Amino acid sequence: MARMIVPHTTSTPGPARPVRKAVVPAAGLGTRFLPATKATPKEMLPVVDKPAIQYVVEEAAAAGLDDVLMVTGRHKRAIEDHFDNAYELEQALAAKGDTVRLDAVRDPARLANIHHIRQGEPLGLGHAVLCARRHVGDEPFAVLLGDDLIDPRETLLSRMLDVREQHAGSVVALMEVPREQIHLYGCAAVDPTGERDVVRVTGLVEKPSAEDAPSAYAVIGRYVLDPAVFDTLERTPPGRGGEIQLTDALQDLATGGTVHGVVFDGLRYDTGDKADYLRTVVRLACARPDLGPEFTAWLKEFVTGLENSGTGDRRIAA
Ligand code: G1P
Repeated sequence: MARMIVPHTTSTPGPARPVRKAVVPAAGLGTRFLPATKATPKEMLPVVDKPAIQYVVEEAAAAGLDDVLMVTGRHKRAIEDHFDNAYELEQALAAKGDTVRLDAVRDPARLANIHHIRQGEPLGLGHAVLCARRHVGDEPFAVLLGDDLIDPRETLLSRMLDVREQHAGSVVALMEVPREQIHLYGCAAVDPTGERDVVRVTGLVEKPSAEDAPSAYAVIGRYVLDPAVFDTLERTPPGRGGEIQLTDALQDLATGGTVHGVVFDGLRYDTGDKADYLRTVVRLACARPDLGPEFTAWLKEFVTGLENSGTGDRRIAA
């Protein structure tokens, strides 16, 4: 009888399974926005008329992820309430026949199945992701960081899911940044692949100095992770800032050749930074069909006033 040859599979990743779950770490203290964030989670700061975190959940839902786990900390009740029904408010709006606002109130809870767990201790992003282990199980999953807002017109996450299906392993989103900004990000050493927007990640380092950075490719806050990352995170020691860094666990996985990067050159905003937060509000307000035309007209007048006077005096452009 012919001996059956069992292929050796340990070094090749298995077939990529479709991704359904997203993890949104939201346990940070938001100290950059004090005092606004004294009693309100930073993720709930409004960007035009929706909290920043709603854009993130909408992005996950738009990419087909129907299960979202928020990893929160203390003082984050407002996030749970936002993605829940608001019975009395809904009744009041329904009684008035205000269907537009009623939809706006109901939408957040309808975006996906939303779950919440608490991180307990602020031990870093890697630890926050590890807290999701039981919920995620043995499936690939996405991680979306709330401070990074990807313009709703972009399709970055879908592209990352395609790359995961094609290559298996894990996928990170990368963006080229000026060298002097690389110390704010995880930074990737990369090799080209045949595809224009896809690279193989050969190494990762968290927040290197400009001199030590292996490239100008910054990791922005979107990841599609293989569940293998959990075992790696379990044995990842505290790294930069004494925190368990997701970047360090991914560096470990990259050594095995199973991390790819999608190079993004679209619109991304850092809502964790005050000036960028303001730019985000302005840009998204301009793009809104209901507000955009009037707001843009005012903005042009305001800017002309600034150019003429060098100040934002309200007498010049009110
Ligand atoms: C985190 C990650 C970092 C990544 C960044 C993207 O840093 O640790 O690797 O580049 O998000 O926004 P944080 O900004 O939370 O300090």
